[in-house]
Amino acid sequence: MKHLQNTAVVLSLLTVVAVAHDHHGAHHHKRQGPGNGGPVVVAGTITVPPLASITFGMPTAPIPPSTATATPGAIPPFKGAPPLPNPAWAFTPGEWPEMDKPIDATTPQVQEWMKELEGWDIPDIKPTVDGSCVNDTAAAADAAARGWWTCGGYTRATDIVDCPDKMTWGVSFDDGPAEYSTHLLEYLASTKPNPTLATFFVVGSRVIGSPGLLINEYMAGHEISIHTWSHPHLTALTTPQIVAELGWTRKAIQSVLGVTPTTMRPPYGDIDDRVRAIALAMGMIPVIWTRVPNAAAPGGGFSFDTFDWMVAGGLVKGQDSFATFGSILGNASTLDTGFCVLQHDLYEITVDLAIGYTLEAAMSHQPAFKLEPIGQCAKIPTNNMYRESNTNQTFPYKSPPAGLSASGNSGNKSTSGNGKVAQSGNGGNGTTGTSGAIGRSVGLVVVGMAVGAVGAMTI
Ligand SMILES: *[C@@H]1O[C@H](CO)[C@@H](O)[C@H](O)[C@H]1NC(C)=O
Ligand SMILES: *[C@@H]1O[C@H](CO)[C@@H](O)[C@H](O)[C@H]1NC(C)=O
Ligand SMILES: *[C@@H]1O[C@H](CO)[C@@H](O)[C@H](O)[C@H]1NC(C)=O
Ligand SMILES: *[C@@H]1O[C@H](CO)[C@@H](O)[C@H](O)[C@H]1NC(C)=O
Ligand SMILES: *[C@@H]1O[C@H](CO)[C@@H](O)[C@H](O)[C@H]1NC(C)=O
Repeated sequence: MKHLQNTAVVLSLLTVVAVAHDHHGAHHHKRQGPGNGGPVVVAGTITVPPLASITFGMPTAPIPPSTATATPGAIPPFKGAPPLPNPAWAFTPGEWPEMDKPIDATTPQVQEWMKELEGWDIPDIKPTVDGSCVNDTAAAADAAARGWWTCGGYTRATDIVDCPDKMTWGVSFDDGPAEYSTHLLEYLASTKPNPTLATFFVVGSRVIGSPGLLINEYMAGHEISIHTWSHPHLTALTTPQIVAELGWTRKAIQSVLGVTPTTMRPPYGDIDDRVRAIALAMGMIPVIWTRVPNAAAPGGGFSFDTFDWMVAGGLVKGQDSFATFGSILGNASTLDTGFCVLQHDLYEITVDLAIGYTLEAAMSHQPAFKLEPIGQCAKIPTNNMYRESNTNQTFPYKSPPAGLSASGNSGNKSTSGNGKVAQSGNGGNGTTGTSGAIGRSVGLVVVGMAVGAVGAMTI
């Protein structure tokens, strides 16, 4: 893999992205160049502010409808799909954990799910202090052995971190469904010549809060995957707490859609061999996002995180996030494989960045990128993304695959596909952030910010 670290090259690449964007916009969507003019029409009557105005505190558009457009019992658009639950799922108070809060892991329900771990060798790794590298230097020093992604980008062969085919982008949105997910769905449906499909890593609390939005995502052909109930750092939780986070989210999705995802994404990418083994034992393949070794980046690893969440947090401006995205596309173009990028549909700002700018730039990029949901780009047939329609007897794993655990490291896998684990072993240290996936009532919190270290920050 080539590392282009020449500033002039980088600037010219970013210019190419911007010019391509202008050109495309002028012809197809009556767009204006980033940073100029008034609102940009992206689909139907949906407009987004010019890039320069996408910033914390910007005026907001009216909240679009969140009701399901499909009727109960409708058939989802993939082979072998069970019909939507009929009657439709309805919220019953008292049946669910408190939204966006850590879950009581001592309940009979969680004890029942704990049985799924029987027969699996769950590595005896002590929970980290808080999922950050700075606050747990002992765990950080042991990151390679425990396969901890947070501190150095360590992954295992069982993780999905990219798409096998070069120039293929596995598109994903985390932390929804949320108020402006409808705008994202309308935009994705409007792209020409075909609708664009993505993977939605959904938060259980929000699934319960907006079941209609989840149904709309799923019925439009997008992939649905598990992203925990309350968005914690999973490495910092006890094993029953991790089981509770995954189990309740799985139950929420199954209740609303009638299907059980066979994949999950750890919030902040915070996974180690214990979290992996628990997820696999519960029938979920971990999915992260691409991270490439890059000596120039703080911590040594450049993660394909658009930092859209930092704009929503008031830490950077829309233009900064769009420039980061330019770096992602630049690095992606040099990879021998495809790639997965982190974006969010939790906030209006992050949706506007995607539908107004980043997706548009990716679609008009030359040479062309192929945009696909992550399961599809990873060659997993859509029906196998759900337990009820899965036909693959060996997916997800029925027993612990060789090389998963900390003691048997044959599963080490580099995110770059070049056989090298991310260089320094400390990427992301001291810079743990949060996308604020803690609900609107609480507001958005971003901790441990080091503005100079954005390249190493992960969500
Ligand atoms: C964090 O990264 C810095 C610079 O990359 C390094 O000097 C330091 O030792 C790292 N700390 C840990 C705990 O890995
Ligand atoms: C790759 O990403 C780094 C940020 O870590 C950036 O400095 C560099 O310009 C990117 N490379 C390309 C070719 O865009
Ligand atoms: C079934 O899953 C396994 C494990 O992920 C994979 O290697 C294999 O290619 C899959 N088979 C089919 C037919 O998709
Ligand atoms: C995997 O990582 C561990 C810890 O860094 C190392 O000791 C082991 O040799 C690696 N195994 C392979 C197959 O690369
Ligand atoms: C480390 O711990 C301190 C004290 O609890 C906390 O304020 C800080 O946010 C933590 N840092 C990170 C990166 O999580």
